[in-house]
Amino acid sequence: MNRERMQALAREIASAHGAEALLDERLAPWLSMRVGGPVAAFLKPADSDSLPGLLAALHAAGLPVRLLGGGSNLVAEDEALDLVVVHLGSIGGSVEWDGARARVAAGTPLAVLLRDSTKRGLTGLEWAAGLPGSVGGAVVGNAGAFGGEMGPSVREVVLVAPDGGLRRHRPDAGDFSYRRSFVREGELVLEVELELAEGEPEAIRAEVARVNAQRSGSQPKGGHSSGCMFKNPEGDAAGRLIDACGLKGRRRGGASVSERHANFLINDGSATAADILGLMDEVRAEVRRATGVELESEVRVWRAREAEVRP
Ligand code: EPU
Repeated sequence: MNRERMQALAREIASAHGAEALLDERLAPWLSMRVGGPVAAFLKPADSDSLPGLLAALHAAGLPVRLLGGGSNLVAEDEALDLVVVHLGSIGGSVEWDGARARVAAGTPLAVLLRDSTKRGLTGLEWAAGLPGSVGGAVVGNAGAFGGEMGPSVREVVLVAPDGGLRRHRPDAGDFSYRRSFVREGELVLEVELELAEGEPEAIRAEVARVNAQRSGSQPKGGHSSGCMFKNPEGDAAGRLIDACGLKGRRRGGASVSERHANFLINDGSATAADILGLMDEVRAEVRRATGVELESEVRVWRAREAEVRP
């Protein structure tokens, strides 16, 4: 299907489902790494109720659909991408509390959820202090930091299959592992039910402050980034390996390996996606050569010429 046809179909379907369609919208402003070329169509859905119908129609029309949440763990190439992106972040967040339980719309920023739970004296999410991204994305990638992760708080997830079918899933312990979840490729997280625990408000605030302090002591501030670029290999830390290879400060165009934490790649504002992806390849090759360890990307990459791949 050519780009014009894709755009005509996407615009028609969007309008039938109350979504706004931006044609040839660049991804860069929507991603925390601030790189990414124009997609065929960028759809902003009206609300979460319209999502199953919207996705089913896009799927039935044979359009190459990609879902975008908070945009904090994604790098897209600079070239034009023949994709129809559904931006979940456009749907406002919402959190409904019932005691220590919360039903959370997937597009809710993690930071908003943490602010709410802290105010209510509920414990279980303090590890997320300072994390960007949405609750949906945090569930899909089982986000984690400072000894905590998303999985243990998740009681139920409402998912939409690519054909628009709804599925409810109550995960058990095996459904989450390091930076992985049971959510399948192309499936969309619509809503999440979390269960936290009653805590001591003072202790919760202190833990949030401790996490924030630890983060600012060990991770870079300023510049644009996707957080950690590589998953930690079994029994070691990607940051330690990259550092030990002497790669801190290594630069390609506007992209560099952070001097503060070697697993962060920083865009100084002038980097292209090619700078970032090239630097990632270089880091991976140097670490492989020096240590034999093959680093696996933690961020997703959308490429212009192929379906979504995870290098
Ligand atoms: N290290 C170095 N040099 C560096 C960075 C780290 O030698 O430049 C060493 C540290 O001294 C430490 C070890 O590597 O011994 C681990 O470093 P750190 O404690 O900073 O944690 P990490 O394993 O690098 C993980 C997560 C972070 C999360 C922190 C805090 C991954 C890939 N990274 O980092 O998550 O914030 O723990 O708990 O799992 C992210 O996912 O985007 C992310 C930043």
